[in-house]
Amino acid sequence: MKILVSDSLSEEGLTILRESGFDVVVDTGLSEDQLVEKIKGVDALVIRSGTQVTARVIEAADQLKIIGRAGVGVDNVDTEAATKKGIIVSNTPDGNTLSAAEHTCAMMMAVARNIPQACASLKSEKWERNKFMGVEFNKKVLGVIGLGRIGAEVAKRFQSFNMTVLGYDPFVSEERAKSMGITLTTVEDICRNADFITVHTPLTKDTKNLINADMFNVMKPTARIVNCARGGIINEEDLVEAVNSGKIAGAAIDVFVEEPPFASGLIKSDKIIVTPHLGASTVEAQVNVAIDIAHEIISVLNGEGAKSA
Ligand code: NAD
Ligand code: MLT
Repeated sequence: MKILVSDSLSEEGLTILRESGFDVVVDTGLSEDQLVEKIKGVDALVIRSGTQVTARVIEAADQLKIIGRAGVGVDNVDTEAATKKGIIVSNTPDGNTLSAAEHTCAMMMAVARNIPQACASLKSEKWERNKFMGVEFNKKVLGVIGLGRIGAEVAKRFQSFNMTVLGYDPFVSEERAKSMGITLTTVEDICRNADFITVHTPLTKDTKNLINADMFNVMKPTARIVNCARGGIINEEDLVEAVNSGKIAGAAIDVFVEEPPFASGLIKSDKIIVTPHLGASTVEAQVNVAIDIAHEIISVLNGEGAKSA
């Protein structure tokens, strides 16, 4: 059976697939037209976030049994079209949790202390100690929107900085939040009261533009916001306006509506720190997700069913 790997995958995962006797073809950077051609005769497709598995691609697939996402978000797959055709869409929900949580912490610290801007300034031979005044986390309020795997790990880490954590997640009970030391409240209440806000939801019709101009209008001028989840949960134009007009103090963004975001105002503002979707980019996370997805693919192709679909 043939497996097409259309985004980069750690060697550990590729080895497991090859040693199981499958014909593994790695072909990255394909356009939709190219993928429509290459998907013919393929039994399993392995992707990360780069490949867009559209209805056209799924329509062209003639023996595809599983689309395996080495990572969490399956928003780059037309899951409805796949389900209609009986194709399993599977992900690796745990493998990159800690890396994404740690990157969120790094972004929060960077935006609190202006680290990228100060680094760039010193490298251009300026010594601007007054320009880069930061803020502490101690006794501040953190708002976490989405209290799943990553949100919970982020909350835990910032509690050790002596922060009070407010949370919003319609699928988390008061008891569960209490056990994590988090006070559940509304998105608007978080926006009014938090000094730092971080979003950790999937991108759905309910979370798209969840943080928009109305929410920026009630935030503190000292508030800072982080998005290491999915582009579009925070409305990008409204964020640029809020930061540039001084409605909030800064933002740190890892994910974008369009990637790469070369046309976005987000990469032009000095007060917005950006990284190129690096949340899961650690050696450990990439090995984890590659191994997890390889086992999932083998299980499905051997007729043993999916574990995380
Ligand atoms: P998860 O499924 O464990 O948690 C998501 C949480 O969001 C759940 O608790 C769910 O109840 C909650 N949620 C759903 N709808 C909501 C809504 N309308 N309002 C508030 N909460 C809502 O997922 P996770 O592993 O924690 O991942 C979170 C996000 O991070 C996903 O979007 C994922 O794709 C993204 N992610 C990004 C990177 C990266 O490289 N930047 C890496 C890993 C994951
Ligand atoms: C994910 O959803 O897992 C992330 O976007 C990470 C990735 O695709 O590398």
